[in-house]
Amino acid sequence: MKALSTFPRVSLGIFPTPVQHLDNLSRLLGINLYIKRDDLTGLGLGGNKLRKLEFLLADAQNKGAQVVFTTGGAQSNHAMLTAAAARKLGMTPILLLKKRGVTARRGNLLLEHLMNTDVRFIDTDDYADIYAEMDSVGRSLGAVYYKIPCGGSNALGTLGYVDCVREISEQGVRFDHIVCAEGSGGTMAGLALGAKLFLPGTRVHGMMVDTDPFDVITLRLMREAAAMLETEIRITGDDFSLRDMCGPGYAKPSEEGNAAIRLMAENEGIFLDPVYTGKAFAGLIALARERAFAASENVLFVHTGGAGGLFAAYD
Ligand SMILES: Cc1ncc(COP(=O)(O)O)c(C=O)c1O
Repeated sequence: MKALSTFPRVSLGIFPTPVQHLDNLSRLLGINLYIKRDDLTGLGLGGNKLRKLEFLLADAQNKGAQVVFTTGGAQSNHAMLTAAAARKLGMTPILLLKKRGVTARRGNLLLEHLMNTDVRFIDTDDYADIYAEMDSVGRSLGAVYYKIPCGGSNALGTLGYVDCVREISEQGVRFDHIVCAEGSGGTMAGLALGAKLFLPGTRVHGMMVDTDPFDVITLRLMREAAAMLETEIRITGDDFSLRDMCGPGYAKPSEEGNAAIRLMAENEGIFLDPVYTGKAFAGLIALARERAFAASENVLFVHTGGAGGLFAAYD
């Protein structure tokens, strides 16, 4: 297998992020619960996207990009962090966001404003239209530009979460279960592939917060990332579990998600978000209630960030 360290990478975050035992919630839920603090990755408001962006923006730099495009919903955490990372590296971010969700200057849109980011809303539900618009804007600028897909979820971005499992495997606790939010797929695919490579036997549970076909998406990203790593490892749908936690819809808060946010805040002083991590943690609570975790097992919740969304989700 090709070592992850052989892929070009820029330094954006502070790694390793801490793994902490959640004493109060462990007692309350009757499980042995830990949290991986990827909300503390160290740039912007932190969050999962920095791990992907370290690989993606190294590729952009190597291709001589002056302008970086990306996309997502109006309150995309990924878009906000891409803007922060591009600014840090001296590239110009341009965000073409779907007119979907809260478009007022709140939450991540406020942070983008503070970074003097060029934000354009596109009234479409089809990302193909948006990628075509990126080409059209990029050509009109006459600059070398680089397109990062929604969520940074391509094979190269996925390597960021393969590397996260390598990091976890060196942090001293053997985890039986890893739980994360799944929005565009790269985080989950990286964790599931990483578990196969660095923590065999660990079960990875993806909590779906949108309605895309994540079984297909996760498999595809795992296989493409495995091909980049030149590993022959056999990947099937049995390598991960998925659960629908979308509730009323993408970026629409759910009752279970809101209750999970309060539970985490009240008991541990840690803030989840209504779009991803609150719903994902609600999925973990549901698994605990269904006794999916044995008393002897260690469970790791990956806090993928998103706090910016807390300030925009409630109209
Ligand atoms: C805070 C947060 N958590 C989780 C996710 C999901 O990660 P992925 O897009 O890699 O599935 C995202 C982005 O979509 C996010 O912003």
